[in-house]
Amino acid sequence: MSAQIIDGKAISEVIRAEIKAEVEEMKAKYGKVPGLATVLVGERKDSQTYVRSKKKACAEVGITSFGYDLPENISQAELLQIVRELNANPEVHGILVQLPLPAHLDEEEILGAISIEKDVDGFHPLNIGRLSMKRREPLFVPCTPRGCIELLDRMHIPIEGKEAVVLGRSNIVGLPVAMLLLHRNATVTICHSRTRDLPNVVRRADILVAAVGRAEMVRGDWVKPGATVIDVGINAVPDPDKPGGHRLVGDVAFDEVKEVAGAITPVPGGVGPMTIAMLLRNTVDSAKRFYGIQ
Ligand code: GUN
Repeated sequence: MSAQIIDGKAISEVIRAEIKAEVEEMKAKYGKVPGLATVLVGERKDSQTYVRSKKKACAEVGITSFGYDLPENISQAELLQIVRELNANPEVHGILVQLPLPAHLDEEEILGAISIEKDVDGFHPLNIGRLSMKRREPLFVPCTPRGCIELLDRMHIPIEGKEAVVLGRSNIVGLPVAMLLLHRNATVTICHSRTRDLPNVVRRADILVAAVGRAEMVRGDWVKPGATVIDVGINAVPDPDKPGGHRLVGDVAFDEVKEVAGAITPVPGGVGPMTIAMLLRNTVDSAKRFYGIQ
C-alpha cells in the first residue's frame, strides 16, 4: 500500500493564514506590526533564493522585512556593527543571518551577537543551550526542526515512546530536531557518516528524519513498513527534461520509500514550506513578546 503523503505546502498555507490573521489583529488593536531583518552576505544562489522566499512570505502575511544584502568581502567588525544596530532597532523583532557565511567570517561570534530576544532562527548559543537541556525553555526553536515536529503534530502522528532515527547531525537540522524528538519522549538515535550498518539502524525507525544532503540515499528496503518519513533534503540532480537542467530531490528515494512507509513528506512541498512558516511564527511570537501582547 502506498504511504499517506504529508502535504507540507497545504499545512504551511493553513499556518500562514493563521499568522496573517494574527498580524492583522495586532495592527488593528495595537497599531503594531512585526518586523524581520534578513541579512545576506555574498552571492550564493541558494541563499539568495531562500532569502527572497522569506521576504516574500513576510510581505504576504503583513510582516515588515528589512533586507540587508551585503558584499562577500564585508569584515567581521562591519557585520557585527550591523547586527548591533538591528538589536537596537525597535521595529525589528527578528534577525536572520542567512547561513552559511563566507569562510573569513566567524559564524559563532556573529550568531552570538544577535539579541536572544530577536533570535528567530534559534541559533544563538543560549537558545541552543537551553534546547539541549531538560526543563529549560529556549526563546526560539530553529525553524526547520520546529517545522518537522509541527508536521507530525498536525498529522496527529504520535511521537512519545516511538523509535526516532535522525539521519544527519548538522547544527541547523539534525542536532536540534533530535533534541525536540527527545523532549517529546521519543527514543532517539542520531546517525552520521561513521554509523556502522546504516540501513539496519534506519530500519528501526518508527519516525525517520533524513537530513544529510545526499540525493535519494535512503532506499525502500531501509524503511520499516508503516514508518513515518520526514525528508529534509533538498538536492539538485541533473535532468535535461527540466527547464533549468535539474530537478530537486530529497535524501529519500521517494518512489521506493512511499511503497513501504506509512506516511512521507514529498520534496519539494514537504518540509521546505514549513521552515518559512515557522520563521513567520517565531517573528510574530517575538513581536508579541516585545509589545507585551498575549
Ligand atoms: N541556511 C540553511 N537553512 C537555514 C536556516 O534555517 N536559517 C538560516 N539563517 N540559514 C540557513
